[in-house]
Amino acid sequence: MLGVFDSGVGGLSVVRHLMLQYPGQSLLYLADQAHAPYGERPLAEIRRLAAGITRFLLLQGAQLIVIACNTASAAALLGLRAAFPDVPFVGMEPALKPAAERTRIRRVGIIATAATFQGELFASLLDRYAAGIEVRTQVCPDLVSLVEAGELDSPRAREAVERYLEPLLSAGIDELVLGCTHYPFLRPMIEQVAGPGVEIIDPAPAVARQAGRVLFQHGWLADDGAPQTSTFYTTGDRVRFQRALRDLLGETGAAAQARWLADGKLVPLLPG
Ligand code: DGL
Repeated sequence: MLGVFDSGVGGLSVVRHLMLQYPGQSLLYLADQAHAPYGERPLAEIRRLAAGITRFLLLQGAQLIVIACNTASAAALLGLRAAFPDVPFVGMEPALKPAAERTRIRRVGIIATAATFQGELFASLLDRYAAGIEVRTQVCPDLVSLVEAGELDSPRAREAVERYLEPLLSAGIDELVLGCTHYPFLRPMIEQVAGPGVEIIDPAPAVARQAGRVLFQHGWLADDGAPQTSTFYTTGDRVRFQRALRDLLGETGAAAQARWLADGKLVPLLPG
């Protein structure tokens, strides 16, 4: 069983690729909407939340954890691997490597949260792949809230996308990395604003492939093609999350409810 989490609905952009590539695979998803957005929170707090969610997913039967969140990966991936040495984790990082390989003018843009740019993972990414490349970074705090609110093509969303991309487009980038899992849901608008001269890179298909490889290595990859049973938990508003599941993923089943207790433990409250 695959466990997947994000601060909210962003990780569903990874789940849709997991479902396409491994349709027989069961998964458990946790959207920590009680704490979304994560991007402006201190790294130490994100680490604590990520550890609580990991414990929750393992207790519910997850074997492999996919951190479908660049922010939580930046803050917590290394710590989680150390704290849960027997559990395989697949994390995310902004896809600078493919962008650096594909840019013709050696100038790339990355959009992500403030916390993602602060983590040591991003510093090491720059060390490994940015030699000879101009990397322009941009934080886009409003985009996560817009996607959480289901505003994917409103005038407000367009204004925010234009405002955030403007400095990158003026700098003349030809590759744009979506460094937050919420942003792929705004991709049609991002493409419109960026124009045909900018290639958009979303790492979600590659992350789904990597999760499949790890499942396969452990003998956990379901290959009987039977319909999957997936459960989608939120720590926030269940009705709103159910609507997002339908709109973003085409999932019509009921959402499940999880709740944070005062001692920092996360527990299931209502089944899906
Ligand atoms: N979707 C997340 C990411 O990939 C988190 C965004 C947020 O909660 O600020 O970074």
